[in-house]
Amino acid sequence: MHADPEVGTGAAGHNSDFPWDEFDSQSYYRHNYRTIRDDDRAILGEVRDFFSSFGDRSGLKGLDVGTGANLYPALALLPLCDEITMWEYSESNVVWLRRELRGYSGFLDAALKVLTGRGLGYSRTWDAFWEVLCEKGLYGGVDDPRKTLKARARVCRSSIFELPPQQWDAGTMFFAAESLTGDEGEFESAVQCFLGALRPGAPFVIASMENSQGYTVGKYRYPAVAIEEDDLRKMLKDRATGTSVRHIESDGSLRTGYSGMILARGILRE
Ligand SMILES: C[S@@+](CC[C@H](N)C(=O)[O-])C[C@H]1O[C@@H](n2cnc3c(N)ncnc32)[C@H](O)[C@@H]1O
Repeated sequence: MHADPEVGTGAAGHNSDFPWDEFDSQSYYRHNYRTIRDDDRAILGEVRDFFSSFGDRSGLKGLDVGTGANLYPALALLPLCDEITMWEYSESNVVWLRRELRGYSGFLDAALKVLTGRGLGYSRTWDAFWEVLCEKGLYGGVDDPRKTLKARARVCRSSIFELPPQQWDAGTMFFAAESLTGDEGEFESAVQCFLGALRPGAPFVIASMENSQGYTVGKYRYPAVAIEEDDLRKMLKDRATGTSVRHIESDGSLRTGYSGMILARGILRE
């Protein structure tokens, strides 16, 4: 069963009830990431400092789950990882991601290269996000992030519930587990699948919408579980060390129906 266009099922429903393959990636990208907002800037700063504290590690295998039309979690993993898997379920998002990583094609490509000297790769939008990452830490050491991300990222079309266990050394999951279902049990299982895919000792970051009532992308309504900081704290208590879970203020300009964001980070227990 698919969510009814326009009307939808609000925040309720299971993951399989929603039209993920029809996710309007371009509209989502334009609405959320065309310009950098203060909440994303705050998240990026914290993630940058956290991952930079693992500067003694390199050549890791990184995982970003539910990547959608957002490259900044993968950019945050870039200095630590020589391979980044973008684990995404929606066909439309997979197509969007592959194209975005590749850059423009054909004549426009060639013309851009001649005019700007810039290689192929993601659009200029992400430069503002990369600049925040470069303010401190390891990121300035990445030579050409456009080329490097293109070379290191691999887009894999599959569900979070199909993630293999203990395969990755560092992980990010942004606005996915609580925003892919309206069912609390399914949300918890999604978080466990993400954590289960990491190896003991792996640093990870989970960003979530707080108290989300669901969201509209294009003509469809998508679900959410209205989580709070304590929900994540409880779930991470026995799974991670060095845990921090905190509220990120949002000015409400993104949309209505949520009370901010939650940023959780830690290291998977040995
Ligand atoms: C609200 S979007 C978040 C996208 C992006 N990570 C961001 O930070 O903006 C939710 C994402 O979860 C993905 N998703 C939905 N069901 C999924 C599943 N079963 N497994 C993995 N990803 C899924 C959607 O396709 C979408 O990309």
